[in-house]
Amino acid sequence: MNTIYTPNNLLVTGGAGFIGTNFVHYWLEQYPDTRIVVLDSLTYAGRYENLQPLEGQPNFRFVEGDILNQSLVEQLLRDEAIETIVHFAAESHVDRSIYGPDAFLKTNIDGTHSLLKAAKTVWLDEKDEYEHRFHHVSTDEVYGTLSATDPAFSEVTPYAPNSPYAASKAASDHIVRAYQHTYGLKTTTSNCSNNYGPYQYPEKLIPLAISNLLQGKSVPIYGDGQQVRDWLYVDDHNRGIDLIIRQGRLGETYNIGGNNEQTNLDLIHTLCSLLDERFPDSPHVPHKNQITYVTDRPGHDRRYAIDNSKICEELGYNPVETFQSGLAKTLDWYLEHTSFWMDDGIELFGAHAESN
Ligand SMILES: NC(=O)c1ccc[n+]([C@@H]2O[C@H](COP(=O)([O-])OP(=O)(O)OC[C@H]3O[C@@H](n4cnc5c(N)ncnc54)[C@H](O)[C@@H]3O)[C@@H](O)[C@H]2O)c1
Repeated sequence: MNTIYTPNNLLVTGGAGFIGTNFVHYWLEQYPDTRIVVLDSLTYAGRYENLQPLEGQPNFRFVEGDILNQSLVEQLLRDEAIETIVHFAAESHVDRSIYGPDAFLKTNIDGTHSLLKAAKTVWLDEKDEYEHRFHHVSTDEVYGTLSATDPAFSEVTPYAPNSPYAASKAASDHIVRAYQHTYGLKTTTSNCSNNYGPYQYPEKLIPLAISNLLQGKSVPIYGDGQQVRDWLYVDDHNRGIDLIIRQGRLGETYNIGGNNEQTNLDLIHTLCSLLDERFPDSPHVPHKNQITYVTDRPGHDRRYAIDNSKICEELGYNPVETFQSGLAKTLDWYLEHTSFWMDDGIELFGAHAESN
């Protein structure tokens, strides 16, 4: 058993985005005696409203700002006595990275480097033996794509990123590794599969499909819909990050996955059946009639699968939600929060349902 690290004051970057928001709510429910400062520049994907219920609590502060602003980050680390960074902030939408890679390289690579420099300055250069952690949240997309029969990605699978998004995340993983190896910054990294759950921006596959199906609009599927992804409920991702921060070995990477491989088409069919059951009198039954097919995305990875045996065996990780329970919870949340996805001001990228 590794020594248990106890975070007290956390800086959560990208905490107003999908996973970051869920992480902040998860963490403060689990550990109400700790304090979180969220740093988020509120791009199109970030929403302050996601965190508004926490405003006024003494253990929470929201700061609108950019991870590229190194002096701001240094100031926050000093003023708030932060000893733990959980780094979610990123440009995260693969389709956007194909049409505009620059923002991805800037935020995901330079932004991560800027955070690392700030952490090194305040935790290593200005202090002696200051206990700290830098947890970097990354993706399984750094490993590239698999055929139907390839073994799942493990932590020793060579990196082979295929999209500008994946390449920028791969680069950030390497820089984190280098800061641990070269300077002794206490880092951990997680590479996770596709997440789903509340607060996901409605341009991603599951929320886009829920929104279109409920409104009687078509759900466009890329290519033949046979792309396989491993879907993980967002709080199961957060439980994995929690274990890694507290008990993970320094300098290590851990894959987090849900043992839940689904083709995009099967996933949409499951969602259609769930909606048929919930709304038997809807004029849109059977919802599967709304599925349409569109030209595949350039360079679309065929299959991702995660071998999560390292985190399971070393840290006792186990996803709590089944796909059925997670999807039902997700649907409930979107039904209760229609303003999240019906807002006219939402800036959706393209009209197609993408895998991640
Ligand atoms: N969504 C997934 O399925 C998935 C899977 C594995 C890993 N990840 C990783 O998890 C992290 C979070 O993903 P997500 O889906 O929640 O993303 P998201 O796009 O929903 O949220 C990203 C957040 O980062 C903020 N941000 C962007 N640039 C910033 C900057 N320069 N400075 C400060 N804040 C900035 C945005 O405003 C937003 O709130 C990312 O690093 C992503 O690569 C996501």
